[in-house]
Amino acid sequence: MFKKLVLIGGAAIYTGTVLWGVTKYRKAKTTLKGENNVLYIKNSKPRPVSEEFCHLLPTLYSEQECCIITTPIFYANGDPHIGHAYTSIMADVMARCQSLDDKTVLYVTGMDEHGLKIKQAATKNKRTVQAQCDYVSQQFCDIVKTSECSPTTFIRTTEERHCNVVQAIWTRLAKDGFIKKKIYSGYYSVSDEDVVNKRKTIVINGKRVTKDSRQPVETFQEENYVFSLLGVKNGESLKDLVIKWLKLKSPIKPEVLENQSSLSYCEQILRELQKNDLDEWSISRLRSNNGWGIQVPGDSTQTIHVWFDALCSYLTATGYLNEPHVWPPDIQVIGKDILKFHSILWPAILLALGLDLPKQIFVHGHWLVEDVNQNNPNKRKKWIKMSKSTGTAVTLQRSNTANDGHFLKMKGIAGVPDELSVTVCSSTLRYFLLRSREKNDNHFQYERLVDLHNTELVNKLCNLLSRCTSEKINPTEEFPKFSRKKLTEVGYLQKHLKELGVLKSVVAKKFAEFQYSKGIDAILCAITSADSIITSKKPWTLEATQREKIVSICLETCRIAAILLQPIIPNISSQILDILGIKEKKRKWRNAILQEEAPRRVLKKNKKPLLKRMKIQKGKEKGWFSSLISLFLKPFQWLKKSEKMT
Ligand code: MSP
Repeated sequence: MFKKLVLIGGAAIYTGTVLWGVTKYRKAKTTLKGENNVLYIKNSKPRPVSEEFCHLLPTLYSEQECCIITTPIFYANGDPHIGHAYTSIMADVMARCQSLDDKTVLYVTGMDEHGLKIKQAATKNKRTVQAQCDYVSQQFCDIVKTSECSPTTFIRTTEERHCNVVQAIWTRLAKDGFIKKKIYSGYYSVSDEDVVNKRKTIVINGKRVTKDSRQPVETFQEENYVFSLLGVKNGESLKDLVIKWLKLKSPIKPEVLENQSSLSYCEQILRELQKNDLDEWSISRLRSNNGWGIQVPGDSTQTIHVWFDALCSYLTATGYLNEPHVWPPDIQVIGKDILKFHSILWPAILLALGLDLPKQIFVHGHWLVEDVNQNNPNKRKKWIKMSKSTGTAVTLQRSNTANDGHFLKMKGIAGVPDELSVTVCSSTLRYFLLRSREKNDNHFQYERLVDLHNTELVNKLCNLLSRCTSEKINPTEEFPKFSRKKLTEVGYLQKHLKELGVLKSVVAKKFAEFQYSKGIDAILCAITSADSIITSKKPWTLEATQREKIVSICLETCRIAAILLQPIIPNISSQILDILGIKEKKRKWRNAILQEEAPRRVLKKNKKPLLKRMKIQKGKEKGWFSSLISLFLKPFQWLKKSEKMT
């Protein structure tokens, strides 16, 4: 596409065939005013000024050591919800941790826009299929930005660059003998876009559904193209190569979710592979049954199946058809429902193409909601997977009422789609999601979100900062001159100094193991012990030098905590670091250690509290008239419920 890339100083400009560097972005922008084809490179991390140029990033990145982190691409059939936000935020935290370590990160996310599921959603919403995709993609883009996720590339499978990649991959695999046409029969779940055999289904209330997702299936028999795991690459079958990869590289993390199975994910997948019914994957559908997708090259009667198409998006986003191509992914974040595709079909495709396999697949659990529609006589709570297709999701929208760009509106909190909508700031949402159990399914509880916001973000983090910037103990509003040596002489500070001395390595280890909540625990512990020094020593009663020692160690705690919390709550952390007067380049992982010496710094005035306490909002209060009406309707509701039971 372009021959040469020169990076000098601040920016590089792409002008069709050549890339060249200039020293200042400002200059670059004015030079190319109106052309809109500028790539901005700051701190050696290229960022596209226009999304149109995302596809050039991989090539830029190939010049340096780069870490690739991906999320699954999201189906464009409905609004984003907490489960999707979780996947994206997890990946974002991983990306931010790498960036704080000065690594260049390619964080890839996007939209899965083909397949029957999207077509059906468009029909339901009375939109054209493309309009459906455009609408939902915009919603997801908004949420990604509002929840402070910062992907480098946002890919949509309806883009031309992606269609070219999928068709090129198909052609290559067909040429190498991995794809064959045959009559294929089985059951199809539109909701999962998955072909399953009878063994993987059960009948509930007279309806056949999949065992795993409980989504309805329909039988089908078609002449399709299949991708065979028995195809041979370098003398070994793809299946054997996948098994070797699973056994030798243990790429799936964590091994398994707690209390869910005695077998690790790896063992479960290996068992599946032994049963031989995943040896062949149907990778196309008759175009007459599903025309919304990429056509099989050279066969106008067939559409490439949406999973084959979607998996290839990881390759498109990393510049597969460009030279050089940055590969393989370091971490691929997925939910547990799509592990089968990522641990069997995906590595097999890569092996067939002769490409390296992902280094790690990080699997997270599901967000569950209370099933309010259940007919449950003993009133025991039943939790089900949050899902937009079943209308049980806590959906997210950018909040238009708060315009500083970091507020989201959550709907469906009470289990009923429009019953109650609550506005939360991105820090609260991120904190709540990351404070969950990474190795398990999690229950969405609005009360817990409010509680975590109040007890940890407001009462601990923000409170420590406001205490040690208050007039009462810090009348000169400064970060006093810091001397570690002098502080070590104070007996009652010993324990806390030790704690701060190891905090970074404790947190970095937990974050590297994807145990975000445990990392946060350690940060909160340090904050609590700083706070208890203030409470017990009452610095406002002490003379200036003693008081300043306490203020400086407490502000140092805030500094280290805020640096370490940047991946979790970027916005609030950066506000704290601004108040403390910490320069951008001093906010890296390596700066999260106790300083030896630091000069006195004036603190930035902070008029507004960083975060206000949240109150639990209740569903709409009913007036006497509507209460009367619902009282009157109650017996009929009961009737309706019992109808459902039969
Ligand atoms: N389009 C496919 C992925 C193709 S990747 C090549 C897909 N899309 S999805 O929109 O259904 O799901 C996207 C991600 O969101 C998946 O990782 C999925 O696990 C996650 N979640 C969807 N619902 C979820 C919960 N209720 N809880 C947590 N995450 C879940 O699958």
